[in-house]
Amino acid sequence: MSPGGTTVPESPESQSTNHTEVLDLSPSPEFAAQANGQADLYDAAAADFEGFWADQARQRLTWAKDFDQTLDWSGAPFAEWYVGGELNAAYNCVDRHVEAGNGDRVAIHFEGEGGDSRTITYADLQRDVAKAANALESLGVSKGDRVAIYLPMIPEAVAAMLACARIGAPHSVVFGGFSADALRTRIADAEAKLVITADGQFRRGKTAPLKPAVDAAVEGETTVEKVLVVQRTKDPVDWNDDRDVWWHDVVDSASDQHEAVAHDSEHPLFILYTSGTTGKPKGIFHTTAGYLTQAAYTNSVVHDVHPETDVYWCTADIGWVTGHSYIVYGPLANGATQVIYEGTPDTPHQGRWWEVIEKYKVSILYTAPTAIRTFMKWGDDIPAKFDLSSLRVLGSVGEPINPEAWLWYRKNIGGGHCPIVDTWWQTETGGIMISPLPGVTDLEPGSAQRPIPGISAEILDDEGNPLHDPEAVGYLVLTKPWPGMLRGIWGDEERYKETYWSRFGPKYYFAGDGAKFDEKGNIWLLGRVDDVMNVSGHRLSTAEIESALVSHPSVAEAAVVGATDETTGQAVVAFVILRGGHEDHGDETVQELRNHVAKEIGPIAKPRSIMVVSELPKTRSGKIMRRLLRDVAENREVGDVTTLADSSVMGLIKEGMSSGK
Ligand code: WT7
Repeated sequence: MSPGGTTVPESPESQSTNHTEVLDLSPSPEFAAQANGQADLYDAAAADFEGFWADQARQRLTWAKDFDQTLDWSGAPFAEWYVGGELNAAYNCVDRHVEAGNGDRVAIHFEGEGGDSRTITYADLQRDVAKAANALESLGVSKGDRVAIYLPMIPEAVAAMLACARIGAPHSVVFGGFSADALRTRIADAEAKLVITADGQFRRGKTAPLKPAVDAAVEGETTVEKVLVVQRTKDPVDWNDDRDVWWHDVVDSASDQHEAVAHDSEHPLFILYTSGTTGKPKGIFHTTAGYLTQAAYTNSVVHDVHPETDVYWCTADIGWVTGHSYIVYGPLANGATQVIYEGTPDTPHQGRWWEVIEKYKVSILYTAPTAIRTFMKWGDDIPAKFDLSSLRVLGSVGEPINPEAWLWYRKNIGGGHCPIVDTWWQTETGGIMISPLPGVTDLEPGSAQRPIPGISAEILDDEGNPLHDPEAVGYLVLTKPWPGMLRGIWGDEERYKETYWSRFGPKYYFAGDGAKFDEKGNIWLLGRVDDVMNVSGHRLSTAEIESALVSHPSVAEAAVVGATDETTGQAVVAFVILRGGHEDHGDETVQELRNHVAKEIGPIAKPRSIMVVSELPKTRSGKIMRRLLRDVAENREVGDVTTLADSSVMGLIKEGMSSGK
């Protein structure tokens, strides 16, 4: 990036001004009146930062021992929050709700892919967690031991995580779509003593085995002593009598009484490996009190969860941080009722999600832009067949949501009236950092808008000077510690300091995202810094160009990369999927789309080339792997494809190119 940043000729928010003319994007008075997050929170946090966070912790959590100091930043960048306090995260997520008389409230409406369902109340969950905690202890797990969890989206996953939290054994959840190798590396890095898994899971109408991956991951030298296996599919599995134990044998027979001893505020709660780009995966670790405070607070003020009346649904997998913070810890700490759905959105039909919303009268939906764009591709008529009138808040997370997808989401899912909270955060931040408050903020389609109360961010240029000029592109940094922040990279203090606290010196947390302000003071996230391109000295964001492409009526999905170019430094190369019913007319289509981008952003953003493809390479968490597209764009051998959800996609793309498509 050049000092001072460059100005993007025309920004997508000039498109969105048009939208604001036709849409009322301010909160309705009715919504605003009932919202958990009110405007005075911003003032309170600005007036007394530590006092604000102390209040959140004391109001939202139940403490066995109150803390003496809110923040100790003397060992920066290693923070300690709520120093001297003691609490139990599982007690906070379950038992206290039962003690308060809410044992009959539904905690989880579980919907299996095949239509099997289970209703789990807080009283049920208390018994399940206590039994699981007793079983873990009987298997030799004690405070401080690490437990790897490799489970599908079933209620046992929640019980397993909370049982670990209860006894103070940090969990390391590994997404069920990861390979045996990935699991082995993660088990080894955390030196896990126990693995909790299942025989298999239901996906796309079939069973998919899980246990064989665990068998392979613990073969030979390993720290793992026992493997605890949930029976889900009843498919036959290999069995090692010395090592393997059925969940239904040891958990079901265990006592449903278990004392939740209090743990220190800074006791490690979990490790979660980020899908690192290269090298060893980073074990991001979080501790108890600060993380739980931020998860509960944000779920309340951003998702606006009212535990007595709402039915909340976060569609993430518990294998990602979104599932940790916004399926397990946040909503359960708040005593919410939620839906957990096991399967894929198109099994047995493409209206499955909308059917689930209708069935459980879901009122808050939290999902990812990639899902929304997929639904756009499938067609408006599908959600239109279902009653979605119970919805009152929509959320988005994981990547920038382009204005087109935002508007589609609002209109076709949100009945034209639901506030959409576009929430920016990371595995490292533990909880939501930048987002509108749905009862306060005038929304801006495509922008995550502003740091929530208690969080402070800046955008810096290459030299570390804050940028405030509208449209000047720089690096997003966080300027103050926050309760949910990572406490390090497991076993690697140096890497923690270097990755996050050295680019702009020890005062700034470097998030790795490009960003800019608009003239209204909204923050626009522009993708990872390595996705920011520099074309002829002009900085362009992949996200901006993708957004422009997707705003064309014929485009369903787009991915843009910066390919090395002799003349311009980098050139824009786009890959697009056309919407159903739109044919690829070769050069004509390409020209039309290039002109469309020129019209939306400016001629400088015109892609050098556009390839029409049938699929895009995505990781299992739905992130487009631009690295692979860059390989194609630069005519290189395609690199490592092992983290792709579908490894055949790259073959299809290359095939399409060579056949001249
Ligand atoms: C990266 C973090 C946060 C949980 C899921 C992803 C991107 C995330 C947004 C958003 C623009 C977003 C950023 C960030 N990101 N949310 N609302 N708008 N970008 O967690 O895998 O740790 O990824 O996801 O680039 O750095 P993660």
